[in-house]
Amino acid sequence: MKYLTWGPSDKKQTEKSLKKQIAMQQDGDRKIFVLAVVLKETSVVIGNALFMVQDDDFETAEIGYFLHSSYWKMGLGKEVVDGLVELGFRRFGMHRIFAICDTENTGSVKILQKSGFRLEGHFLKNLKVKGEWRNNYLFALLSEEYFRG
Ligand SMILES: CC(C)(COP(=O)(O)OP(=O)(O)OC[C@H]1O[C@@H](n2cnc3c(N)ncnc32)[C@H](O)[C@@H]1OP(=O)(O)O)[C@@H](O)C(=O)NCCC(=O)NCCS
Repeated sequence: MKYLTWGPSDKKQTEKSLKKQIAMQQDGDRKIFVLAVVLKETSVVIGNALFMVQDDDFETAEIGYFLHSSYWKMGLGKEVVDGLVELGFRRFGMHRIFAICDTENTGSVKILQKSGFRLEGHFLKNLKVKGEWRNNYLFALLSEEYFRG
């Protein structure tokens, strides 16, 4: 939770957030998709993945991802990002997908680099996280880069 503006959430906050996300599924002009990350073998929910359409005209979306700490460093984060990218380019026909992450979030930086994202920006003290100004990277991937491989 160190690099996230929110959390940890208690049961009440989680329920409220889940209700909001379920209600969003009914929105015909849906821009935000909060997907559950489920472990295939056990069907246990181990995290979530976010796909947020930023601008219809520019066909751009931001992604986010979060896994329970018991499942870190097993390659699952990369699998989630690859899934979001596939969804964005192959299913939704996006032009550009980007992600913003704390410069010290080594796991997230590694995943984005390994999934083909390019470093586009380095923001200094742009986000206040739990009372502290943090530095962030902006990573992006274009559909032409994705399909070129
Ligand atoms: C960031 C996060 C999704 C990484 O997930 P993960 O499943 O551990 O990532 P992977 O196992 O796919 O790891 C990808 C690479 O990063 C490395 N890595 C992962 N966490 C790391 C850490 N804390 N420190 C150093 N390296 C790390 C892995 O070893 C792997 O490297 P390798 O391919 O060279 O072996 C997970 O730590 C998380 O949910 N954190 C909290 C939420 C968060 O920060 N989300 C991202 C917001 S931008």
